[in-house]
Amino acid sequence: MSLSEEIKQEVDKRRTFAIIAHPDAGKTTLTEKLLLFGGAIRLAGSVKARKANRHATSDWMEIEKQRGISVTSSVMQFDYNGHRVNILDTPGHQDFSEDTYRTLTAADSAVMLIDVAKGVEAQTIKLFQVCRQRGIPIFTFINKLDREGKNPFDLMEELEQVLGIRSVPMNWPIGSGRELCGVYDRMKNQVELFQGKDDHSTIEVRKVEDYNDPLIREMAGDFLTDQLIGDLELLDVAGDQFDYEKVRAGELTPIFFGSAVNNFGVQTFLENFLQMAPKPGAKVSEEGPIDPTDDKFSGYVFKIQANMNPAHRDRIAFLRICSGRFERGMSVKHVRNGKTIKLAQPQQFLAQDRDIVDVAYPGDIIGLFDPGIFRIGDSLSQGKDIVYNELPTFSPEIFAKVTIKNALKQKQYQKGIDQLTEEGTIQVFYSTSFNETILGVVGQLQFEVFQYRMQAEYGVDVQLHRMTYQFARWIVDDNIDPGKFRINSTLVKDKKDNYVALFENEYAMRTAMEKNPNTKFLEVAP
Ligand code: G4P
Repeated sequence: MSLSEEIKQEVDKRRTFAIIAHPDAGKTTLTEKLLLFGGAIRLAGSVKARKANRHATSDWMEIEKQRGISVTSSVMQFDYNGHRVNILDTPGHQDFSEDTYRTLTAADSAVMLIDVAKGVEAQTIKLFQVCRQRGIPIFTFINKLDREGKNPFDLMEELEQVLGIRSVPMNWPIGSGRELCGVYDRMKNQVELFQGKDDHSTIEVRKVEDYNDPLIREMAGDFLTDQLIGDLELLDVAGDQFDYEKVRAGELTPIFFGSAVNNFGVQTFLENFLQMAPKPGAKVSEEGPIDPTDDKFSGYVFKIQANMNPAHRDRIAFLRICSGRFERGMSVKHVRNGKTIKLAQPQQFLAQDRDIVDVAYPGDIIGLFDPGIFRIGDSLSQGKDIVYNELPTFSPEIFAKVTIKNALKQKQYQKGIDQLTEEGTIQVFYSTSFNETILGVVGQLQFEVFQYRMQAEYGVDVQLHRMTYQFARWIVDDNIDPGKFRINSTLVKDKKDNYVALFENEYAMRTAMEKNPNTKFLEVAP
């Protein structure tokens, strides 16, 4: 088989996705069930154990431990029905950071997990928006069907109102909460029976002609059957038709109902998802789109994880392979600095284990040992130089003034700030009127990591003073008058001397925009 045929075959098999959810929706549980279907039995319990660790104290040694663990579990891989599946972990809770957003750029699709009782929650909205901007397909799993929850039609309405996305249910619940009897598969015309908590290991599937099949009435009783038939008729008449093109464009989300903890509906979801989810596609580069089946290897770094343990100062750069075939020990060009480097000890991540990989293909994520040569967004390529443009920057939402405890450490302090901003740990701004340095992040954890690393790696103790700003907007205006912005905001400068206005609330931001109609206010640096 030729190399390009081999790459094509491998690309066709691959599905790389991220699960997006608000904390507690059941992401850990669902991930674990998916891994079990993939035969990764030895992992049972490990995802859960990791989570338990996270809930431990916020003592620094603990965070270090957690970070160490989350390094190895950032990507999980398994095989199922001829597919090779890569699940990217998107940390939630206090671990939420720019890394979370960046990780989504490495995914070809997303699974949005929603708690049936809570509906669309805050963190889901943020993560959804990033996926939306990238135009990747989003599949919805509505979880905890064994509990009392919202009406399925109301949930569809909520997806449309809050997220602006239309949906098409692939299956439909028969009853809910304690009355949950099963789900009706609209595509296959079959009923998956829910046996209840005590006996959930035996989920039974019955093939029926359609939803009027008498078998359903026999199993679910008159009340639930009438309700089901009414609902399904309404969906057939008034609901969106399944439209593959719209799903692929991220304009329509297929919905699956189930219960992760009971393993109910998970397998059907997985099988349908793998059929519908896209394989790795072409990625945008400065030279135009690069097809994954291109013979030459290329990829980009989307995340760098520093080891928080001072005894092991190594860092790991996470690389998404975009084209060609990766082989251990291969030489590739580090495009930004023009040097050729050898990829000697790449790692693939499988929950708790770190495995050395010999070969990998587009869609796969590999971890590269990083002695400090990589930055977020760096591209590696074989043959011609390829520079990927896949990584957007994000507007910070949390701000703090940083001060140094020991003025004699000024030099190390500056070096630390420069390196950590370059790495993407934090964004930095300088006050235009006082000699102040302000840091901006999207998640609190980034501050903690910054503070810790300044101490551990540069020997500098810093203090952070939270500020009340919530929005940053880059100002594009040839005749900027800094005085104009003082009323509703604070004007600062970024590293490249661009003006940035910081606002405390949306009202202040809107007022500034209205008063300065000729000024552009950009969410990220121009
Ligand atoms: P997360 O990673 O999204 O934060 O959520 P996680 O999987 O940890 O699930 C959060 C809680 O929801 C867990 O309960 C979990 O057992 C429960 N859960 C997950 N799926 C379902 C479901 O389908 N039905 C019901 N009823 N509960 C579900 P917990 O009390 O926090 O933990 P545990 O002690 O029960 O494990």
